[in-house]
Amino acid sequence: MQYFSTFAAMLAVAPAVVLSSVTFAIYLGADQPGDCTGEELGKVTQSIDGTGGPEAFENAACIQVESPDACCTAVLYQHSNCTRVVGSLDGEIKASVLQVDFGCVQVSCGNVSATGSR
Ligand SMILES: *[C@@H]1O[C@H](CO)[C@@H](O)[C@H](O)[C@H]1NC(C)=O
Ligand SMILES: *[C@@H]1O[C@H](CO)[C@@H](O)[C@H](O)[C@H]1NC(C)=O
Repeated sequence: MQYFSTFAAMLAVAPAVVLSSVTFAIYLGADQPGDCTGEELGKVTQSIDGTGGPEAFENAACIQVESPDACCTAVLYQHSNCTRVVGSLDGEIKASVLQVDFGCVQVSCGNVSATGSR
């Protein structure tokens, strides 16, 4: 019972913290369709102003929604200097995956435009 009430208390507090927060996990490998594999290279989360990154990754091949937020999208660039868009992953559905080789990730949420200009 004690455990349960502690858990319930955490639940009550958590939403204020995670409100409108998306996290994408970046992986070294792409396995079966809809799945990432291999080493996790890192995560990208949006900051308070609604954008996350841009962040460069070496040899990234797969990105997955870890913590969903329908307002957020991860834009993937081929090069580590964040040029040449190769795809984007909607942040709406937890565990959804995009398999593509990329070198940079930029997250945008709501009406905040991504790096965009490139
Ligand atoms: C970004 O990196 C790519 C690959 O290294 C290169 O071809 C391109 O010229 C770079 N662009 C800029 C704006 O630095
Ligand atoms: C996003 O912001 C721009 C500039 O502030 C505005 O012109 C545009 O209408 C907004 N779009 C939405 C969907 O709110």
